Order: sequence, then structure tokens, then C-alpha cells
Amino acid sequence: MAALIAAEQAEGGACRRTLFGTLRTGQEAKEGTVRTAGQVQRGSGPPDRAKCSGKGITMEHKFKRILYGGDYNPNQWPEEVWAEDMRIFRNAHINSATVNVFSWAKIQPSEERYEFGELDRIIDMLSRENYDIVLATSTGALPAWMAKRYPEVERTDYEGRRHVFGQRHNACPNSPVYQKYAAALAGELAKRYGSNPHITCWHINNEFGGECYCENCAAAFRVWLREKYGSIEALNKAWNMEFWGHTVYDWDEIVPPNALGEGIGAEKTAFAGMSIDYRRFMSDSLLENYKMERDEIRKYDAETTITTNLMGTYKGLDYFKWAKEMDIVSWDNYPAFDTPWSYTAMCHDLMRGLKGEPFMLMEQTPSQQNWQPYNSLKRPGQMRAQSYQTVAHGADTIQFFQLRRSVGACEKFHGAVIAHSGSDQTRVLREVSQLGAELEQLGDTTLGSVNQADVAIVFDWDNYWALEYTSGPSVDLKYVDTIHQYYKYFYDRNIAVDMIPFDADFGKYKMVVAPVLYMVKEGMKEALEAFVRNGGVLVTTYMSGLVDQSDNVYLGGYPGPLREMAGIWAEEIDALAPTQTNTVVFADETKAQCRIVCDLMHLEGAESLASYATDFYAGMPAVTRNAFGNGSVYYIGTRLEESGLSLVMDQAAAGAQVSPVVAESANGLEVTRRIGEECAFYFVMNFKDEALEMPASLAGHPDLLTGEPVQEGEKLEKFGVRIVCVPNQD
Ligand code: GLA
Ligand code: ZN
Repeated sequence: MAALIAAEQAEGGACRRTLFGTLRTGQEAKEGTVRTAGQVQRGSGPPDRAKCSGKGITMEHKFKRILYGGDYNPNQWPEEVWAEDMRIFRNAHINSATVNVFSWAKIQPSEERYEFGELDRIIDMLSRENYDIVLATSTGALPAWMAKRYPEVERTDYEGRRHVFGQRHNACPNSPVYQKYAAALAGELAKRYGSNPHITCWHINNEFGGECYCENCAAAFRVWLREKYGSIEALNKAWNMEFWGHTVYDWDEIVPPNALGEGIGAEKTAFAGMSIDYRRFMSDSLLENYKMERDEIRKYDAETTITTNLMGTYKGLDYFKWAKEMDIVSWDNYPAFDTPWSYTAMCHDLMRGLKGEPFMLMEQTPSQQNWQPYNSLKRPGQMRAQSYQTVAHGADTIQFFQLRRSVGACEKFHGAVIAHSGSDQTRVLREVSQLGAELEQLGDTTLGSVNQADVAIVFDWDNYWALEYTSGPSVDLKYVDTIHQYYKYFYDRNIAVDMIPFDADFGKYKMVVAPVLYMVKEGMKEALEAFVRNGGVLVTTYMSGLVDQSDNVYLGGYPGPLREMAGIWAEEIDALAPTQTNTVVFADETKAQCRIVCDLMHLEGAESLASYATDFYAGMPAVTRNAFGNGSVYYIGTRLEESGLSLVMDQAAAGAQVSPVVAESANGLEVTRRIGEECAFYFVMNFKDEALEMPASLAGHPDLLTGEPVQEGEKLEKFGVRIVCVPNQD
């Protein structure tokens, strides 16, 4: 079988595999010719598009091979070390490096002078080695000279303290001085390196995030508000400023809602409408920084892919809005030792969902982190399995932070491909090399293949902010944790999920799950009603339908705009302290615990699926289902424990006729599918402690990693991975 696969690869056979997919659209256009690197197959190179034959979906892929490498900081090392790095990386099948992430002070030693000599040598070396270079713009950490000369470039924090030089991710996004120098640097870099065919991707700044509350930001906030509201009256109304006599009469009376202003502790605020707007504004301000650098680069480099590295469920930025400005989504995956695999899977699905396209894994550690309280080593096989999980959920690159471990400062104990010993005989390097060899063997096989789902979960940053700003009913209401509870239901059953924005096309799905849909924005009621009328199944929960986009309550009874389609009225919301629980009882007498909040509901056409067992609202409905048009709406009025939630979700999923990606019911293995041009790739992964049996329906089909067909009854060991290729017509 291995021989057969190799033969197919040589001919661009069944799955159109080539051993080394190194042709790149960008390069061809830039050079006018195809680059003649060692293994390029002229003419029979990979197709530009991977088609999903089943439903005719096509997906462009940005890269011609799986980028495998990561952050590389040779500038921290004497140049003698670089050649040794290249030797080790070559043996480890590393083909990509992200450089210049934090080198602003080095490449611009003063206001008047750029000094690119060292970066030139790094880029030349990597180009000679035929790397796919991810070139960062270095604007993620300010140079000391700038902070000294222009203190305004530093941020003012939530407590109102202007920061001094230090750390990173520290620039005020609305500082004209910062903007001027950041844009100039991006332009200089693009002018100098934009035509280098080995630059495969631009990486702007680094992990954009954080906030600033300085005078420049306050002024920019007022401009942003003026554009949004048009009049001061509209703003007063939106923020409900009659409350506590907060009416403002002039734009310059508005100040950022920080700890000195509307903030209540670090997390809450007296005026959620204002604080949510400040979050929107800050997300937009940082996005403007991104766009500014992107546009500078585009002046000199018309086509190379441009990205910045995101952070999964990071709260600060509205990533759906950001993704519209990015050529490809990339993100950094740093699970802790006890992060559930379902949570990591959800983050990948969210990152894929931002553009509905494959994404880049920009960073993960090959071994351990330094910034968690407990930085466990990845167990043997874990990094490999984690990497394949990433590819399974839509990644087209696997990159590490970092390639060589730093000698000093706070990341010196952060894992890296090359350890402090400098040895090429380490466990970590062996595992990196094994994975590198496998990915090289996969070539472009999986690139551009698509994840398809019948289920969608709504994820919305406005809701994330608004729910967690609410003062009452409970401090335990956590957005991401709630979304994850629902995601996990599907993950545990190998049912594919898309993570979608509030304004997605719901019609593509059989089932839409919108937990804690606290803020229902304009157009959403109509879109959800149309989806359900057309036969869709909607699941929503407590703390839904409560406020509009300004965080003002929909009057006339909860859950406001969802009331009619849910067929219920939630008259009151009880909050349960951590020491308290209630119980819900299903029609067949099954019981499940519930906590955090309990909606006290009246039926308005819906049927009750479960009711509360105790307290003064015993007997009132806790979970309901309403037939609406051709579809139905499930409303879950309390936080159910897993067993209870499963009962409701089983019924909803069965009604929606959604099924797992393989016929067998799940046994603990994760099975995730990407559909390629001619075959579907079933990524089967074992994250459990015991060996588990492979799904029988995959028996007889080849595992791309070994070339061997899956055997009937075969077991997959812990951290084992199979990528089973099943022709699409099957
Ligand atoms: C982030 C940053 C990197 C590095 C890693 C360490 O992802 O982007 O520069 O600090 O964390 O885990
Ligand atoms: Zn500022």
C-alpha cells in the first residue's frame, strides 16, 4: 500500500498528492516563472483549488505545502550558531520560519536610521534553504528611544497610569507618533523584502490585544461615537444616561469608562452600553493599526498573504470583524495541561469559522510553556496528536514557538525545537522530526480540504462582552465556558460543528445552537425565525433575548424577540449560589441537577420537556420545545449538568437529523473529517488513556500516515492518529 501511495504521489494520482508541494501562486506571479527548487514537479504540480466534489465546494489554499517551522530569533544568537540551526532544522524537515517578530529596536536603532544588515543575512540564509518565510513587522514591542522621546506612545492602563518603557504589546493604538513609525516600518520592510519570492506570508505586529485609556484614545473614542450616533441625544438614549443623572451635553464630556470612571472593580461597569462601546472602539482601533500596516505593505507587495496571529477565544477583539481584513486567519494554541481536548477543538473551529476557511497554526509549543502556573511537558506523542487535531479542524500550517530556546529573559524556559543543550539528540527534536517527515510526506494532500457541518454554534464578541458585564443575576455567568458546554456535546459524539457569527447564513445548517444569546442584534430575530420556519432546529438558553445592541432591555417580557418563536415567557430569573442547586425532572422521571440561573417560565404554545423539582417554582417548566413553522425551538432555562443537557440535545439533534461523521457511535476517539477533491480525510485521534477501537466503517481504507489499510477491530493507542482516506463517492 505504501508503494501504491508513493506511485500515486509521483503521478499526482487519486488524491493528487505530490511529495513536495512547493509551487506557490504568489511566487509564480512575482517571478513570472516557477521557482525551481529541488523537488518541484513542473506541470504536474498541485491544483490551485481543492474541490469538494460532493457539494461542489471549492476552497482556495494559500500555501503549496504545509508550512512547518515557527518563530525563529537568530538575532538573539551569535551567527556561528545559525549554520548549526539550519543543519538541525533540515534534518527535522522544517521548511518555514517566522522572523523579525520583536526586532524593532534592532532594525531601527534611532528615529532617523534603519539597519537591515542582520535581517538581510537571516532572510538570505533562509531563502538559500528554500524556506517559506513568514516575515513579521516587529511593531508588537516599542523601541526604548521612542518611549523616551514620545511618552504618548505608551499606554495608559485601566487604573489611569501612563506606562513607561517595558514589556511588549504596549503601544497606544491611537498615538499618531506610534502610527507614523509603525506604518513607516511596515513600508520599509515591504519595500526591501516584498519581492523576495521566499516571503510566503506577512505577519503584522503580534497578538494584538489589550486596551489603552489615554487622552489620545479618549479623543478618538469621541470621534468614533460621533460617527456611530450622530447626535449627543442618540448617545444619551443608547447608554440610558438618565440613570444616575449621567446625561452629557457635549462630546468632550465623555471619558473612557475606566477604573476612575464607570468601572466597578476590574470586571463590571455602571454603564454596560458605554463599556461595550469602548470595547468595540478598542477592537476597531487596534484593527486600524493592522489595516494601516497592511495597506503600507500592499503599496510594495501586491499579493503575498497577510495575517496576524490571533488567540482563540481572546476576549478583547471582535475577531469576526478582524477576519474580514485578513487574508488568512492564523492563531496561537497554548492549551494548559488540563485544558479539555474539546476546548482546543472548539478554538480551532472558531478560528476556521472566522473566515469559513482553513487557517494557519502560527504558534504552539513543541514541549512546554513558561507562563502557565504549571508548565508540564507534553507527553511523548502528545505534540504530534495535538498537531494533527489542528490539521483535522482546518489548519494548513503547523508552526512552533519557538525554534531555539532563548538564553535569557522571561521566556528562557519556554519550550523550543532546539533546547539549551543545543543537542540534536533530544526527545523533543525526535518528535518534531518525525512529525516533519510525515507532513512532508503528506505534501499538499490535505491543503484546502474543507470541514463541513450541519450544526452551527453562534459565537459573538458583543454577547461575550455584554453577558460578562451584566450586574446580576449571577457572577458565575461565563460566556466561553457556556458555549463550550454545548460544543462539547457535539464533540463527544463526533458531530461536526461550525462556529459562526450572529449574522451568518443560518440556512446552510440543520441545527443552530445559540447559548446565552443575551444580546439580540438587529436582523437576528427575523433571520432566526426564517431559519426555524424553514425547518431548522434552534437551541437557545437562559440569558437569551434580553437586550438590544446597546444593552438596553427588550421590554414586554423575556426572552424579548425570541419569545414568540420559543413559545414561552420567562417571568423571573432566579440565581443559585455555588452551594445551591435545583433539579429538573424529565417526562420519564429522569432527573438532572441544574445551577447558576433558573428561568421561571410560562408556556405560550411550547411543550415542557422538564420541570423544576424543588423550591417555590417546583413544577414550572425548565426546558421547553416549541414547534414553529416547519422547525422547532428548544429553550433550556437553566444550566443543566451534562447528563441532563445530553437528554435535551439528543432529542434536538435527532429532530434535526444531524449525524456523526462516521456511522459508529462515539467510543472516546475523536473523529474529524476534512473533505478533499476526491476523498474525505477522516482524522481519528485518541486523547484518552486507553487504547480504543477504530470505527469499523473505516476498515479497509488506507491510513495516509502508514499507507496501510485500517484493519477490522484495530485499536488506536493513546495519542495515536490515523488519517483515513475514503473516496468521496463512498
Ligand atoms: C505568544 C507570543 C510569543 C510567545 C509565546 C509564548 O503566543 O506570540 O511571542 O511569547 O506566546 O508562549
Ligand atoms: Zn491611548
